[in-house]
Amino acid sequence: MNLIKKLLAAPVAVLALWAVSAQAATVEELSPKSAKYAEIAERLQPVGQVCVSGQECKGVGAVAVAAGGAAMSADDVVAKYCGACHTAGVLGAPKIGDAAAWKTRASAKGGVDGLLKSAIAGINAMPPKGTCATCSDDELKGAIKKMSGL
Ligand code: HEC
Repeated sequence: MNLIKKLLAAPVAVLALWAVSAQAATVEELSPKSAKYAEIAERLQPVGQVCVSGQECKGVGAVAVAAGGAAMSADDVVAKYCGACHTAGVLGAPKIGDAAAWKTRASAKGGVDGLLKSAIAGINAMPPKGTCATCSDDELKGAIKKMSGL
């Protein structure tokens, strides 16, 4: 064997030994009884499951509402989203309970539905849907009625 071959042979032998030992450990760890096996099985669980509205869903029970969960009450929407500006009248927002201000706007826009339209689209300093991107039209409308008393 010339020198070059010797030099190459040594690392290959080491590599082969390493591969065998690494594999042996893996096979042992993957015995269904080992803790490692359970850990890997756990990690291989799907991230999520698709559940169809109205159908039984594994581990979850019947799904009540298709998307976004249950509807928020008007109080929740106002507290979580609208109140940030409409409580104090930030940036000229009509204040909660300022019936006169809301009435003027409602008359100009053709009632609550008109106000709903501008709330959905956003108006001047107010962002679309008043920052509640997941709010349904009904939830927004409930919040408008709550704030305006209309
Ligand atoms: C970032 C501040 C901000 C948030 C949050 C906000 N608004 Fe407003 N809103 C405003 C401002 C400012 C105006 C006044 C805009 C104007 O007429 O120039 C306004 C106006 C309105 C109007 C009157 C629209 C019109 O046509 O006159 C409605 C209705 C309304 N907001 C609904 C909501 C609802 C519902 C929410 C919560 C889901 C909400 N807003 C959250 C700032 C906000």
